Amino acid sequence: MSVQPLPIGGLGIDAINRPHIDTSAKRADIARSENPSPSSDGEILKIDSVTRTYTDAEGNTVEALRDVSLSVKRGEFVSIIGSSGCGKTTLLRMIAGLDAPESGELVLNGERIARPSQKLGYVFQQGSLFPWQTVEQNISAGLKARGVYKERKADVKTYIELIGLTGFEKSFPHQISGGMAQRVAIARALINNPAVLLLDEPMGALDSLTRADIQCKLLELWKKRNTTMVLVTHDVDEAIFLSDRIVIMTPRPGKIQGFISVKIPHPRHRGGIEFLSIRRDILEVLHLARANPAPEYMI
Ligand SMILES: Nc1ncnc2c1ncn2[C@@H]1O[C@H](COP(=O)(O)OP(=O)(O)OP(=O)(O)O)[C@@H](O)[C@H]1O
Ligand SMILES: [Mg+2]
Repeated sequence: MSVQPLPIGGLGIDAINRPHIDTSAKRADIARSENPSPSSDGEILKIDSVTRTYTDAEGNTVEALRDVSLSVKRGEFVSIIGSSGCGKTTLLRMIAGLDAPESGELVLNGERIARPSQKLGYVFQQGSLFPWQTVEQNISAGLKARGVYKERKADVKTYIELIGLTGFEKSFPHQISGGMAQRVAIARALINNPAVLLLDEPMGALDSLTRADIQCKLLELWKKRNTTMVLVTHDVDEAIFLSDRIVIMTPRPGKIQGFISVKIPHPRHRGGIEFLSIRRDILEVLHLARANPAPEYMI
């Protein structure tokens, strides 16, 4: 498909694959392109034509992902939105080296991803802390596993401060709230200095106030550390609040339907005109992608 800008004036937002969206109103600036990926110069992660089909013991198959390609720039914050079952976790697990594609390849810093490595941090939706370890011990776990705890011990305190959990160092996961536990999970992954932090709906089970709090903490950590982030979320506002770029996937089999670049400076105002304009664009794209029964999205 050729690259063609759509004739809409506006606010500096790029999007693609919006074939039926009304473009006549005073809308965000939308440019159509086949693959608005970053240039290979700043590229840290490349997902190239990845396909994944699951086969069960009876030989039934589920095509989870079809021909997914994505390029992520160093330091970029990318969010992935798509309906339940469209293959987001499958994709994240392959980036983490926990699963392998049927065809295509995934490359981190020029090296094919073949197995898990400390270069790829992973934060699960919930319950990923070791219940028998304290906050401090959970955050230290990776350092201890790599034998660098002694020299990096001071970092544990720094991270506990960064996530606002000073005073809870000796608490066990069951003694802290779900939001606090997710902050610990993020710190536990980030302290290992991953090249890319993968977040699979880490705030999915939290109330909106706690989500907003963790989103701000995550942004703070991202700005301080400049870690490349790939976040899976069902929450459109969360994606706009945090991301440089939003990837929209089709229902299963998951394919990339479009990209939306968010060029609003931080801190972003959730009720701002540009914010709401992007939100409307995403919702329109999601409606176009809607299957029966309609997927649920948090708005
Ligand atoms: N290990 C597996 N064996 C068989 N099928 C699987 C396996 N893992 C995932 N699937 C199937 O692949 C599809 C994609 O699953 P995946 O977990 O990646 O979706 P998702 O987009 O993360 O969904 P959600 O938003 O609900 O978390 C689903 O239909 C799921 O049933
Ligand atoms: Mg999932």
